[in-house]
Amino acid sequence: MLHPSRLGRLTLLPRALSAMAAPPAGASGQAGPCFAVEGPGSDLVCFTLSAGASGRPEPRCFVPAPGRCYSLCVPAASSVPMARLHRRLQQRLRQGPFGRCRVLGLLCYGAQAALEKGFLIQDPQGGPETERALEELLRGLGELPPLLGVYEAGERGELWQCLWALRGAGGRELLRRARVVAAEEPPLHPAVPGLSHAAVFHSLEAARSVVEQCTSFIPEATAVLDLVDKCPKQSKKGEFPVIVIEGLDATGKTTVTQSVNDSLNALLLRSPPACISQWRKTFDDEPTLIRRAFYALGNYIVASEIAKASTESPVVVDRYWHSTAAYAIATEISGKVQNLPPAHHEVYQWPEDLLKPDLVLLLTVSPEERIRRLQGRGLEKTEEETELEANSLFPQKVEESYKRMENPRCQEVDASPSREEVLRTVLYLIKKHCGSL
Ligand SMILES: *[C@@H]1O[C@H](CO)[C@@H](O)[C@H](O)[C@H]1NC(C)=O
Repeated sequence: MLHPSRLGRLTLLPRALSAMAAPPAGASGQAGPCFAVEGPGSDLVCFTLSAGASGRPEPRCFVPAPGRCYSLCVPAASSVPMARLHRRLQQRLRQGPFGRCRVLGLLCYGAQAALEKGFLIQDPQGGPETERALEELLRGLGELPPLLGVYEAGERGELWQCLWALRGAGGRELLRRARVVAAEEPPLHPAVPGLSHAAVFHSLEAARSVVEQCTSFIPEATAVLDLVDKCPKQSKKGEFPVIVIEGLDATGKTTVTQSVNDSLNALLLRSPPACISQWRKTFDDEPTLIRRAFYALGNYIVASEIAKASTESPVVVDRYWHSTAAYAIATEISGKVQNLPPAHHEVYQWPEDLLKPDLVLLLTVSPEERIRRLQGRGLEKTEEETELEANSLFPQKVEESYKRMENPRCQEVDASPSREEVLRTVLYLIKKHCGSL
């Protein structure tokens, strides 16, 4: 449960730093805020604001009259309270009075301000109920809630964004009214620059500080930190080889890992490690920032287990940093595969302070074969797995991210043939890279 007074205090942001509240592009040529609407699995629809008349067309993400649209944004920085506020809004917008609305992801960027994440709420019926419910939702968040964008059609069919600040005693103040005009999709997905701060952790300290901020509302966070702090820092690999097996669900990872483990007389480890996996459910229910920090810390705990075990026998690891990073990138970057950060981007680099394996094998099967294998299972699914199945772009983005990982990169193995054949290939690759065992 988020405490309203805490949120109220923390939403006290200088408005000048808010991209949403930045002035629209003017005649002087300064850049105004830009918005990207994230349709389900489709392209980004971008728009910007214009102070005066403009010959540019209206963007395609607004419902025609009598429908109405609204928007809300919160800063997307690596702040735990903001991440929770975003998550809370997301949950509330799925319920009650918003049932008839379509809620799409919205990114607000540009205007020399940090990225903001929010929602475009499309109400196909119009009417005052949705606006009233949004106001009520925002007022429930504290003394300085996020601003409310209300979109309305002008006399000649043009579109306007009215930006409202809610005030005490039921009052509200119009901060500005600006024309909404279509904009080009930016060359880089707007969420890419923020990935390294909010979703992909490149040091123990970065992940640790996020989980540390959660101890007051997630009791398990303290236990996770205790386990992390007990691990020796800067753990070094022993003389035995360390082999990581990566891949999407239903690529045969578990079978292959177990067979390789048996064949090499190895020790089998997995990330997240057994000592924290009982808290997965808790962290899976938290916003991306917190969930990713938890999985990142899991990798550092596994690293210390690898360091110890690899002095005694070969080690096989079922998922490690590459999975944590690939799933984070694919979740944060909406839309098509082309939206991913370009190859060699910093998000694909291995963290300097994390023990490196000798070999990383990426198991791949065709999408059709993977669906067939998934259907043969009856497991309880996490939100992420459900998304994975519902949206075929998601697994494509995860797999493409795996393939872009560097230093160490993933060695791809076609896992569609028989178990025996896949195992033979895998053992051959291990022998080739790690020498005699
Ligand atoms: C991994 O292999 C070792 C050696 O064959 C075996 O003792 C161990 O039980 C295996 N681990 C798992 C989880 O299968």
